[in-house]
Amino acid sequence: MSLSGGPVTLLVVDDEEAIRNAVRKYLVQLGYEVAVAATGEDALEVLRRRKITGILLDVNLPGASGIDLVPQIMEQEPSVALIMLTAVNDATSAALCMQRGAFDYLLKPIDLAHLGRAIARALERRHALLEGQQINRRLKEEVALRAAERRLEQATQERISVATLEALVNALEAKDPYLRGHSARVADLSASVAAHLRRPDEEVEAVRTAGRLHDIGKIGIREEILNKHGPLSDEEYEHVKQHVLVGCQILAPLIHLTDVINLVRSHHERWDGFGYPDRLAGKAIPLGARIIGAVEIYDALTTARPYQEKMAPEDAVERMRELVDTAIDPTIHEALEAVVSRRQALVFLDDHQR
Ligand SMILES: [Fe+2]
Repeated sequence: MSLSGGPVTLLVVDDEEAIRNAVRKYLVQLGYEVAVAATGEDALEVLRRRKITGILLDVNLPGASGIDLVPQIMEQEPSVALIMLTAVNDATSAALCMQRGAFDYLLKPIDLAHLGRAIARALERRHALLEGQQINRRLKEEVALRAAERRLEQATQERISVATLEALVNALEAKDPYLRGHSARVADLSASVAAHLRRPDEEVEAVRTAGRLHDIGKIGIREEILNKHGPLSDEEYEHVKQHVLVGCQILAPLIHLTDVINLVRSHHERWDGFGYPDRLAGKAIPLGARIIGAVEIYDALTTARPYQEKMAPEDAVERMRELVDTAIDPTIHEALEAVVSRRQALVFLDDHQR
């Protein structure tokens, strides 16, 4: 009765040839396949070569004793049904073997009928154990599968919520020809700068998402101020500054976006500490927010605005040098310069290959 339904092979380990032969003969009569070994070393060798379902193991063996063998056997064949054979005066050793994983023990001289019943019992117990393990394994697989499904569902929901917010940003920008595509451009270039700085993939993606959503709070800004192309009054400027906090409020329910929300909040902080809303300075400003802040300036310089001609990428980077150490982190400027010149080199190659 092996769990797979295949033949049941028993291994008899005893140094006395007469006992080995008698037990083998009896077990073959009962329909088992039988292997024999005279020493512990031989027994381990048999285990390496054959699939063994049950073992009858003499405690007193020459060389390694049966007690010493139990852990080695259990390591090699953890599901084996192990029965110890022991002399009357050695019951303590047998009990020790049981603690180490043996199923049962029988006293010598062996009563063959008794042996047959003990083997049947041990095999049944082994069968139940294996079935239990299989059920456990199946349950674990099922639980893991459900968890994976839940994670996938959650990721889909998260993507949908971000996509919905992006659509909102696109709608907001579509009203203003000077802003159209701004957030998408800021997102892509910011992610490239983060990648250039060798940030982990997860952080690069958070920077990309924050780039797309950084100005979502402008939904809460009065339209006449948003569309105003002249200088803003102090009151108007204070109102515009609110967009970072409004953005955080809009995103707050999306708990998976915690990192992104921090970047949205801090994208108008300045390296010298004179930005808003928290007047953070230097490295206290999250790196992604420093990147988005710098890239936003770059995007403003390289797109046409009512009050300015658009600048060439290299010129914009050069102009931004004036802001290094005040508004912009020098490391970010350096990275932006490298990414922009690489992009320009690709554009040049592309133009000349056509
Ligand atoms: Fe902004």
